[in-house]
Amino acid sequence: MKKRFYITTPIYYPSAKLHIGHAYCTTLTDIFARSKRERGYECYFLTGADEHGLKIEKNAEAAGVTPQAFVDNIVEGFYKLWDLLKISNDDFIRTTQTRHTETVQKIFTRMLNKGDIYLGKYEGWYCRYCESFWTDTQAGPDKVCPDCGRPVQKAEEEAYFFKTSKYVDSLMKFFDENPKFLIPESRKNEMINTFIKPGLDDLCVSRTSFSWGIPVVENPKHVVYVWLDALTNYITALGYDSKDDSLFKKYWEDEETEIIHILGADITRFHAIYWPMFLESLGIRKPDREFVHGLLMMKDSKMSKSKGNVVDPYPLVEKYGVDAVRYYLAREVNFGSDGSFSPEQFVERINVDLANAYGNLLNRTVSMINKYFQGTIPAYQGQKTDFDGSLESMIELTIDSYEKAMDDLKITEALTYVNELVNRANKYIDETTPWVLAKDSEKVDELASVMNHLSRALFVASRLYHPVLVTASDKAFTQLGLSEEKALYENVHDKHLLDNLTVNKGEPLFPRLDPVVEVPFINELMSGNK
Ligand code: MSP
Repeated sequence: MKKRFYITTPIYYPSAKLHIGHAYCTTLTDIFARSKRERGYECYFLTGADEHGLKIEKNAEAAGVTPQAFVDNIVEGFYKLWDLLKISNDDFIRTTQTRHTETVQKIFTRMLNKGDIYLGKYEGWYCRYCESFWTDTQAGPDKVCPDCGRPVQKAEEEAYFFKTSKYVDSLMKFFDENPKFLIPESRKNEMINTFIKPGLDDLCVSRTSFSWGIPVVENPKHVVYVWLDALTNYITALGYDSKDDSLFKKYWEDEETEIIHILGADITRFHAIYWPMFLESLGIRKPDREFVHGLLMMKDSKMSKSKGNVVDPYPLVEKYGVDAVRYYLAREVNFGSDGSFSPEQFVERINVDLANAYGNLLNRTVSMINKYFQGTIPAYQGQKTDFDGSLESMIELTIDSYEKAMDDLKITEALTYVNELVNRANKYIDETTPWVLAKDSEKVDELASVMNHLSRALFVASRLYHPVLVTASDKAFTQLGLSEEKALYENVHDKHLLDNLTVNKGEPLFPRLDPVVEVPFINELMSGNK
């Protein structure tokens, strides 16, 4: 395993407010970054905004403001949302920042000088009214403008292209030599069969029909077009080819860094095909892993404003708390598969896993320690019964399986291991029946052992939940009497950690939600009436 990590989310378009699908990607990336840092690894986490392009130019025009003012306003909302969701990114790149635009111009020049970029003609469907070019797919079978609905005509404009043909063979070789590059693996065949085998067109990397972009230095009526501008954010943010490139040296060039991009299935092609080609053209290393997650739908249909089913994560977090929303996103939809958001499942997930299983276990344990041992957790005394032994092995097994799953970005699976530990600990209470032991003075050691084991199971569960439940886990540590230092991840295997600590009873971590009240409330949120 490498010793440090560089992990990124896609940079989001500030053409409109972010929805829960974007929050899904950023939250899951954050969970991975936090879990690595908590386990003692260095991890640099980047997210940002992809601010150029025709759509933003048009939206700004419609709003009667400059494109810069338009994106500034929307990006302000990104910052607020990531703050609210407690996203721990180390940097936020905006493609309108000088550190990005200057480097993109240098990259363009280098590729041009190398002969990897050439001037050619872009053919597309042109809407005279909107002054926009559209692709075949965008114009659809009726060949109409997707914006205004008027008929479009075939037209040409001068544009620069990136020579993909030059790099296809080495890309295929790279795929072969790095079977773990694209995850899930099925994505690799999809890329090869859908895009490479039928013949890959050269990629258009400049446009003249709009101006909201980075000017091409050699020919300023052109602006750099979308993917060359967007993908390079992953290196411009680290200071590639700039005065201070120390982060680039550390987090990109150094082979001891594992570079991981997280992205949604809809943008796999750009990351898996063009990005490695750009990097090869620049003569720099390719990422180690690209993890492609599925899309979060709304009960089998895509989220869309007109259907009234867009979930704004902001009010959801305000109402139910950051932990509940982060947990739902990580646990409900298997990271890597498509999934759907439903208010019913949201409420049920919180109630079953967090309120009934985890919160209740903490509550019961702390109450029993107060009642039977005046608030002091009895010291570890080995395994008094087979039940103790079985819970102890379960704890070790859980840590091991959790770490393996997390390392493979199987975040949902990692959480299920913690859920199983919590359920096992609840069952352990039923098996050991502390209330019966408490009536027998000869069983006081056994009872003490039960309290110690329960406390340790709770510590380990809270520690493993911590990258997700960023506030509730800390509250659990406090209730168990653990100082910040004692609660560190490095102590997960310490059987004596909880010895003689004083518990502090607190509020329930997750109050039970009433579906009769909450489901209609979330439905209202989705229809935009709240
Ligand atoms: N700007 C480009 C990405 C450039 S990365 C160099 C872009 N932006 S986006 O805002 O449209 O989407 C960004 C990411 O959000 C994509 O990975 C996309 O898959 C993800 N999601 C958008 N809607 C989503 C869901 N409904 N569910 C899960 N992820 C979603 O594409």
